[in-house]
Parts: sequence; C-alpha cells; structure tokens
Amino acid sequence: MLRQNKKRRKDILTSDFIGNTPIRRCDYLSSKYNTNIFIKEEFHNPGMSSKDRPALFMIEEAIRKGKIEPGGTFVEASSGNTGYGLAMIAREMGYASKIFVSKSCSSEKVEILKSVGAAVEICENSNGLHDFYSTQFRAQSYAANNSNCYFTNQYYNSSNIKAHYKTTGPEIWQQMKGEVTHFIAGIGTGGTISGVGRFLKEKNKNINIWGLEPTGSILSHFLTYRTLPTEYEKFEPIEGIGRTFIPGSLDINCVDKIFQIGIADSKSAAQEYKNATGFLIGFSSAALVAMLEAHINSLAFKQTDIIVVLFPDHGSRYMSKLYSKNEIVNEKSKVI
Ligand SMILES: Cc1ncc(COP(=O)(O)O)c(C=O)c1O
Repeated sequence: MLRQNKKRRKDILTSDFIGNTPIRRCDYLSSKYNTNIFIKEEFHNPGMSSKDRPALFMIEEAIRKGKIEPGGTFVEASSGNTGYGLAMIAREMGYASKIFVSKSCSSEKVEILKSVGAAVEICENSNGLHDFYSTQFRAQSYAANNSNCYFTNQYYNSSNIKAHYKTTGPEIWQQMKGEVTHFIAGIGTGGTISGVGRFLKEKNKNINIWGLEPTGSILSHFLTYRTLPTEYEKFEPIEGIGRTFIPGSLDINCVDKIFQIGIADSKSAAQEYKNATGFLIGFSSAALVAMLEAHINSLAFKQTDIIVVLFPDHGSRYMSKLYSKNEIVNEKSKVI
C-alpha cells in the first residue's frame, strides 16, 4: 500500500514510502511490567530502519543547496543503517555512495550495503573525527580529497534531528492521540531522541524522554555533569548506539535520563523476546528490552503510564550476532 505520495508524478520512488510506520501495543512487555508499552516499529521503512528518515532529509538538503552535482557520490560514516538508507535513496536519485563502517558492523549489513551498489570500507572504530582510524575521519577525508563527493555527516548534520522532529515526533503524537507519558530510544548520533524529544516536549513538557547507551559510552556522564569523563570504562559496542565523543546531533537538553546496558543482557533479551513473541528484534531494540528488565525498579512505571519505545531496525540484520548461533545450539541439543 502506498503510505505517502506527496507529489503527483508518474514514477513512485522508494523514498515516498519512508515514514508513517506503525505503533503496536506490546502485550508481552505491558503485562510483564503491569503498564502500557507501545513499540514504534521503524523496521517498516523501505530500508528497514529509522535511519531512512535522516538519510532522505540529508540527501534532499544537499541537492537543494547545490552541495553535490548530479552523478556525484554521497559519503557517510555509519553503523550500517544510515548507510543503507543513503545508498538506496542515492541510487534511485542517480547518485553513487561510499559508506565507511566500523569492524563491529554485522556481516549482513555489509552485504546489504554492497547489494544496493554502495562502495564499502571497513575501519577500525567509530570514535569520531579526531581519530585517524575512525569511520568519521576516513569519510570526511575521502569526501575532501575526491571530486563531487558530499559527506552527509549524520553526527553533525542538523537535518538528522530535523527528520525526526518533522516526521517521527509528529507521527507518535498523532498515533497516540497525545496520550504518551514516556518516550524511550537508544542514542547513537542523538538524532532520534533529540528530534522526537524536542517535538514531544513542545507538546507536553512533562513527557519523560529517556535514552539508552551501552556500558562504557559517555553520554549519561555528559548528561549528568556536562563534561567529558576523566577516565573511560571499556566500551561495549552495540551496533548503532553509544559513543566515546559527544555528537553534535545530540541535543542533551531534550533528554531527561540516560540508562546503560551491557552486551550480554541485550543478547539474552533478544532470545527471550523472540521466545515470548516470535519477533526477531534488532540489537539496539534488544538493548532497550534488556534495559526495561535491568532498571525496572528505578523506572517506577505506573499502571496508567503510556510508554512508547522506538525499535529502530529488525533482527534479520543480526542473525549472525543474535540468533543463528543459538539456533544451532538448540538444534544440537535437540539431536542429543
Ligand atoms: C540500530 C540502531 N539503533 C539505534 C540508533 C541510534 O539512533 P540515532 O543515531 O538517531 O541516535 C541507530 C543509529 O544508527 C541504529 O542504527
């Protein structure tokens, strides 16, 4: 079904289908925690993630402002999802794409990127522009040294927040008919939580905007102290979330609390969620489910609360990391 076709024209682009994703009540989590938990299912986007939204906004703005000539190359540093959205949209608009991912990116995501025509380069880390080996440094340097390339730079591009402020936030408000007490999302670039948080706070300043990062990420420290930590803990990379620098796309004033969770808890949560509901959820979505379980006492949900949790992508992107191995173990134990 055509979800969104603003302009009347013969050709229908994939980008016409970005956004207007459903919200579904999750009976499993709602009854487990005796409250009302709704999932904003972003894997219904054409690129199967929330990152199609900023990808479209960044591309459209670059073209509008003449930052790139027809046939040029969009360049991005990505944990995979923004890269895929970007590559998919760039291709159908007649542009090429070059995506820098870190070595923690799942093999599925690398394959998906290549399949849509992106040139992919794997880097050591995604520690920000000041690290020579990072995805961000390599992407910026590539765009600076090659002609007709544009680095969309989701970590510092205002179109990232704008995409969520103009689309995801209003959708949630309308779908929930203004009845929402909490919005919870993982933080990577900060675009989602800042855009949705800003929109919802403007509608009702009492809505709680809560973020999630993996253990070792420094964003919760920054929220509390407004400084960088003097000592860094070991960072547990969960694809798409957490940072060891403060991204410009994070408007910390839109966020009330940031929680932390580890990899092991997130992996178990993915399995438990799958067993209870039959859904394969993405890694950072599993981290959100694990966060509810680990912090449930301090979250202090009431029976009347209405909580929207944003699932940015789908578990099929993480078969090798979250599901396949366990399936094999189960198969073996069945045989025994
Ligand atoms: C799987 C996943 N979860 C969460 C996020 C975080 O979203 P944001 O960058 O808007 O903070 C991302 C971002 O790339 C992601 O790919």
